Amino acid sequence: MRIAITGTPGTGKTTVSRILSKKLSYPVYSLSELVKREKLYSEFDERRNSYVVDIEKLKGFFKGKENFIAEGLVSHYIPVDLIVVLRAKPETIRERLKERNYSKEKVEENVEAERIGFIATEVFEGSGKARVVQIDTTRRTPEEVAGLIGRALKGEEVFDDVDWLEDEEGGN
Ligand SMILES: Nc1ncnc2c1ncn2[C@@H]1O[C@H](COP(=O)(O)OP(=O)(O)O)[C@@H](O)[C@H]1O
Ligand SMILES: [Mg+2]
Repeated sequence: MRIAITGTPGTGKTTVSRILSKKLSYPVYSLSELVKREKLYSEFDERRNSYVVDIEKLKGFFKGKENFIAEGLVSHYIPVDLIVVLRAKPETIRERLKERNYSKEKVEENVEAERIGFIATEVFEGSGKARVVQIDTTRRTPEEVAGLIGRALKGEEVFDDVDWLEDEEGGN
């Protein structure tokens, strides 16, 4: 089973992937590290201080691999069987990212990306043959989130409806 865990930074991808990896005995590939180690990038973006992932090289790395968890915000570009989109309330993203050495600008950029559902929209618009599961991690522990993914793998339908913009309109 090939699993991609994607979502805005701070949604819990790395934490949940480690728990799931133990449950399933699958290796986890953390894409930010993998891209650097295997040079799966096209260039270095000086302004963003990050590598630009070469999607074709990334796909090439996973070609022929059967059982794995790929976690990272470009993991949904890899051909997989299941895509897990993790979500969290924008203010929760802000809280979780405060503990990182990100600039205020970078934190707010990610808060905004989650607010509008940037990654989720990318996934829903083109997930290929993969099944898509969406989980709101706001009020769940990482263990609970991993448990839900386990249930999805057994065939249960797991899908949280998330629309932060609509919630704002409703005054929540
Ligand atoms: N379900 C959760 N509930 C509460 N805190 C979480 C949850 N998942 C992750 N966290 C915390 O949020 C922060 C970001 O988690 P991390 O796994 O690094 O996210 P990502 O890899 O998506 O950027 C960490 O401090 C982590 O402990
Ligand atoms: Mg991470």
